[in-house]
Amino acid sequence: MGLRIGIAGVTGAVGQEALHLLEAGSLPIDEIRLFASARSAGRVFPFRHQVVRVEEIRGERLAGLDYVLLSAGSSVSRQYAPVAAKAGVVVIDNSSAFRMTDEVPLVVPEVNAKALNRHSGIIANPNCTAAILSVAVWPLHQAAVVERIVVATYQAASGAGAKALSELDAQVRQYAAGETIRRKVFPEQIAFNVFSHNTPVDESGFNEEEIKVAQEIRKIFGEPKLGVCATCIRVPVFRAHSEAIVLETRRKLSAEEAREILRHAPGVTVVDDRKANRFPTPLDAAGKREVLVGRLREDPSHPRALALFVSGDQLLKGAAWNAIQILERLAAG
Ligand SMILES: NC(=O)c1ccc[n+]([C@@H]2O[C@H](COP(=O)([O-])OP(=O)(O)OC[C@H]3O[C@@H](n4cnc5c(N)ncnc54)[C@H](OP(=O)(O)O)[C@@H]3O)[C@@H](O)[C@H]2O)c1
Repeated sequence: MGLRIGIAGVTGAVGQEALHLLEAGSLPIDEIRLFASARSAGRVFPFRHQVVRVEEIRGERLAGLDYVLLSAGSSVSRQYAPVAAKAGVVVIDNSSAFRMTDEVPLVVPEVNAKALNRHSGIIANPNCTAAILSVAVWPLHQAAVVERIVVATYQAASGAGAKALSELDAQVRQYAAGETIRRKVFPEQIAFNVFSHNTPVDESGFNEEEIKVAQEIRKIFGEPKLGVCATCIRVPVFRAHSEAIVLETRRKLSAEEAREILRHAPGVTVVDDRKANRFPTPLDAAGKREVLVGRLREDPSHPRALALFVSGDQLLKGAAWNAIQILERLAAG
């Protein structure tokens, strides 16, 4: 028998990717239900020879589904995930609402798929930056024990949703037409600019994104003492986040050994051609499920540190693809 699957937030940046991945995938699906807010109710999307109408999300409409992917923000998840789970629907939640809740597994399948064995109805999908970093760093952690991670990010506009993506496009056009550049979604101009991540900064000086990255990597790795220092930055890129990472390891890891480990690591493509100066870029990573890893080099300022650069599609591995991987594993039993 086929599955009954719902996608909430289907009109958004992540929801659209989830719909396309499910359509192209091989999961047997008997019924697909699409949800968003009242603003989008009545819109239609094609899905495997059907035309499916978007419904306004309501608790009772989720009952009867096997799985629901929630991609409509934290407040929607907080309201509907417990209702769905209570009705026996397994929730895969893209928001940050439950990521740090003890009984909710926070899963990157390449790292901690085993955590899926003990869920109680809600599974959290990690923050996009944390998911991309985890895929690249976990194999090195297994080989040499990572004790500290210092990461600076270059985060795409679409990480803030469909409206933010449109804002970058609009501002580029306004600039080209010599018009005044208008800001609505981001507090700073995103076109031709770089700025600190648009989440609130707490008394420690770190913003919410940086705190999430540190907390979530510790939870995914099962390493509560792992040192993480993140600087999260928005850049005028449409799609795919990049990260400059420095790792301190317990055992010295040479660049060559790290490259070899990563060549065989799941979800990783090594792009590290020093001669041709070819390394990961967000343009190359966009649309790919794998995380691109390169610029592997030993840090001359530390006896056991390694520097690397990664690019990963945050709408795919950082969100929709990670969620579908979870769904596929759960459905396989
Ligand atoms: N973008 C990323 O790279 C990324 C990565 C990882 C995780 N996430 C998380 O995934 C979630 C979705 O992000 P996104 O980037 O796809 O956002 P988005 O493009 O802004 O889309 C938001 C979606 O949520 C729906 N929605 C908003 N308020 C709603 C409400 N009150 N009731 C029902 N539906 C509502 C919207 O529907 P309408 O069309 O009706 O407004 C739209 O479908 C967020 O929690 C985000 O933090 C995003």
